[in-house]
Amino acid sequence: MKKLAVNIARLILAVAFILSGFVKAVDPLGTQYKIQDYLVAMGLGRLIPDFMTLSASVLLSTIEFILGICLLFAIRRRMVSKIVLVLMTAMTLLTLWLALTDPISDCGCFGDALVLTNWQTFWKNIVLLTAAVIVWRYPLLMPRLIGETNQWIVMNYSGVFILLVIAGRSLYTLPQFDFRPYHVGTDLRQGWQRMMEGEDSPYAEFFMELADEGEDITENVLNREGYTFLLVSPHLEQADDSQLDALNQIYEYSLDNGYPFYCLTASTEKGINHWRNITGAEYPFCNTDDITLKTIIRSNPGLLLLKDGVIIRKWSHNNLPDEQDLTGELETSELGQLPSDTVATKILWILTWFVLPLVLLTLADRLWAWSGWLRKRNNNPLNKEKVIMRKKIVAGNWKMNMNLQDGIALAKELNETLKADKPNCGVVICTPFIHLASIAQFLDQDIIGLGAENCADKEKGAFTGEVSAEMVKSTGAQYVILGHSERREYYKETPEILKEKVLLAQKNGLKVIFCIGESLAEREAGKQNEVVKAELEGSVFNLSEEDFRKIVIAYEPIWAIGTGKTATAEQAEEIHAYIRSIIAEKYGNAVAEDTTILYGGSCKASNAPELFAKPDIDGGLIGGASLKCADFKGIIDAWKK
Ligand code: PGA
Repeated sequence: MKKLAVNIARLILAVAFILSGFVKAVDPLGTQYKIQDYLVAMGLGRLIPDFMTLSASVLLSTIEFILGICLLFAIRRRMVSKIVLVLMTAMTLLTLWLALTDPISDCGCFGDALVLTNWQTFWKNIVLLTAAVIVWRYPLLMPRLIGETNQWIVMNYSGVFILLVIAGRSLYTLPQFDFRPYHVGTDLRQGWQRMMEGEDSPYAEFFMELADEGEDITENVLNREGYTFLLVSPHLEQADDSQLDALNQIYEYSLDNGYPFYCLTASTEKGINHWRNITGAEYPFCNTDDITLKTIIRSNPGLLLLKDGVIIRKWSHNNLPDEQDLTGELETSELGQLPSDTVATKILWILTWFVLPLVLLTLADRLWAWSGWLRKRNNNPLNKEKVIMRKKIVAGNWKMNMNLQDGIALAKELNETLKADKPNCGVVICTPFIHLASIAQFLDQDIIGLGAENCADKEKGAFTGEVSAEMVKSTGAQYVILGHSERREYYKETPEILKEKVLLAQKNGLKVIFCIGESLAEREAGKQNEVVKAELEGSVFNLSEEDFRKIVIAYEPIWAIGTGKTATAEQAEEIHAYIRSIIAEKYGNAVAEDTTILYGGSCKASNAPELFAKPDIDGGLIGGASLKCADFKGIIDAWKK
């Protein structure tokens, strides 16, 4: 249930971030204008230079897009979920301010693709913030789509795609997807007429007024049958003048073929004259609203071709049509027709060049992981002996050792070591209660499980000094050791008490490592089988099959614990096989074959390989040798031999 909620939240956030990053990157100039609007609203006006607002626009879209991809693929889960939470908190506060004071009418979250009111944006952000809190709380419940070794490919590929292919290309040419009311295919004549008839229309600010005579020629131009070139430059003073030859050529071409050519600008007479001087321009200039001009084309200058009042082409100054394109009349040339690439072909292009490679990479990665698992299974002699694949575990029991600082240092060292050299078995560390919450923060619990060494036999209440199973679980721990001989002996924990503890631990979702084992006197009297059977019957054989399957058994002969005396591999195997047989009697063969039975008692790197090679020994519960990273790692590596 919790996992489902986390993954729904993850998906919502991923989709929102990817879409929002994408539409912003498609139109970096539009995003820049929006940032400038915000700055004006905050009273920072023109203090910030254009190159900074443009960089902020590109950076923002790239970050949003990559965060979305990271969430989708569950890459760097902990870090990403923290960044997303910080970002969403900041955005929610910002949009609350916007909604309350209303300095800008549209937040610009999704560029021009989806325009929301300020209150809609705020409520959208509340939903996303809730999702961000859920994901941040349980980041590791998001299953990875791709192995850690290949995550960098996904991140770099997405970065290059959004930065260069989408934002970079859009800045150099024009946005590949145009969500504004002046996109290619727009019938300006119709839109303008509707506006004149009093309908609500986005073309209210569109007008063309001859700069020299002051005459309004909008209607003439839009109603003209045939082609018209419109050179658009909101501010001629800031226009890029590197393509003057190409522009003049197009102007001459239009003269030769009888197509009208106008330059639309919001510049003053001074600006127009300056442009005339540097370019030798002879075409007529028209005054238009500057925001409208910025909306028409994201290029200064940019060129538009109208046919019968319909926008059929748009060019940035960086890819103007050249001499070869401009031969013959427009009626018969390709330039004079609406371009063949539709929105559908552009989406197909993105699917082919961005989505498909990532899907293929993910499939290859999963296939590789699966085949690696199969190879390991087939090559490992231990597995050939043990046909049944029950979980192998090496668990550390720190007992009452390590202050908080030393414990954290050890857990960190172990975490780094095992991340760099992945274990072939499950690894768990069981620590004093006070360490749990701190260690849970950074431990990669996909690699190392965390557990307590004990928990109370009461649910809650006035039991001074006790720690309940629920409390253990709330630290982020997943395991608990119960029935350790030291607790049975020094704290008089009886089978009945342990029975309660097991029930409470399971009720709170903890996995129990249940210890059993005989004393020296009992072994010498040949009573070991009797003892372990009684211990199982007294505390865990009451469980249902389903619950028993969740238990890990640890056989620890008391005479071997901390004494340096190990049971021989044969002795251990003999009693492990016996334990498995009584589990089979109680729950059937299938359960017995699936039950992990660990050995504990002076287990170290030197004797672990021999012990672990036995068919009924599935790993170890390690005391003394779990207190040093190298010693513990040596035992874990026994599963690699
Ligand atoms: P040891 O302890 O490895 O130090 O013998 C094992 C245990 O008590 O779990």
